[in-house]
Amino acid sequence: MGKLSMPIKCLMAVCLWAAFAEAEEYMKYRDPKQPLNMRIKDLMRRMTLEENIGQMTQIERVQASPTIIKKYFIGSVISGAGSGPAPKASAEYWVKMVNEYQKGALSTRLGIPIIDGIDAIHGHSNVHKATVFPHNTWCHQVCRDPRWGHCYESFSEDHNIVRAMTEMIPGLQGDIPFHARKGVPFVANVNTKVVACAKHFVGDCGTVKGIDANDTIIDFHGLLSIHMPPFLDSIIKGVATVMVAYSSLTGKKMHANRDMDIGFLKNKLKFKGFVESDWKGIDSITNPPQLFLFS
Ligand SMILES: *[C@@H]1O[C@H](CO)[C@@H](O)[C@H](O)[C@H]1NC(C)=O
Repeated sequence: MGKLSMPIKCLMAVCLWAAFAEAEEYMKYRDPKQPLNMRIKDLMRRMTLEENIGQMTQIERVQASPTIIKKYFIGSVISGAGSGPAPKASAEYWVKMVNEYQKGALSTRLGIPIIDGIDAIHGHSNVHKATVFPHNTWCHQVCRDPRWGHCYESFSEDHNIVRAMTEMIPGLQGDIPFHARKGVPFVANVNTKVVACAKHFVGDCGTVKGIDANDTIIDFHGLLSIHMPPFLDSIIKGVATVMVAYSSLTGKKMHANRDMDIGFLKNKLKFKGFVESDWKGIDSITNPPQLFLFS
């Protein structure tokens, strides 16, 4: 009589699936009951070099496809200046695109969603309805020389005004709770808030003769009193990401400045969020710069 009723068949399928899931290896990093630090440690221990590199890499949406994201374990996607899924794309369109990428990211061995998502700087802030953190960049550098082209990416030459403007961070991410741990990124609500970025770390607008991406020659006291305070304010307000400057600090490229990016920012100021490179910033560490074609 080999005929089983439909509900019984379904029940069997559920049981089989449950047995299967049980047999799967227990992964501490996937267990929400474990403390965050333990989950991170467990995950890092399991990751291959390729996965580490891929997770630290952000690619432009034109190059991104679920296949590429899966193959190279890509960590995040950016919509570079003006780049979008269609001219005047609606929010719905953006959400659809992001969800496609998410499928790719979740189907990797690690199963980690795209961490940083789509750069929302061009006003596509509705993208945050998707399951990623869009990312909005604001400039907490102090512009010391108005001849410098990138002063438009600074709020002021007066560092007190730049400090005051870090109030954008709670505006974008939400108000940080009173007893939050210093240095830990804070985003109040993934459905209504976006991740902020303080940039460019550090001394970006203090270059000699105002030459773009040149050398900021300054002693430590000057650095701490002029260029650093807005970053400290940003960290206290729970900023999630800090972007590194193209410029050098007294002869050392900021993108290769371990003492500042790790030693000072992460260890001394205890910033626990993401430190990110600027557009092709890694390629310009070498002289001449690494050739990098963008199409
Ligand atoms: C600064 O600009 C000068 C003149 O263009 C150039 O020779 C020098 O290499 C630049 N320095 C840095 C650190 O970019």
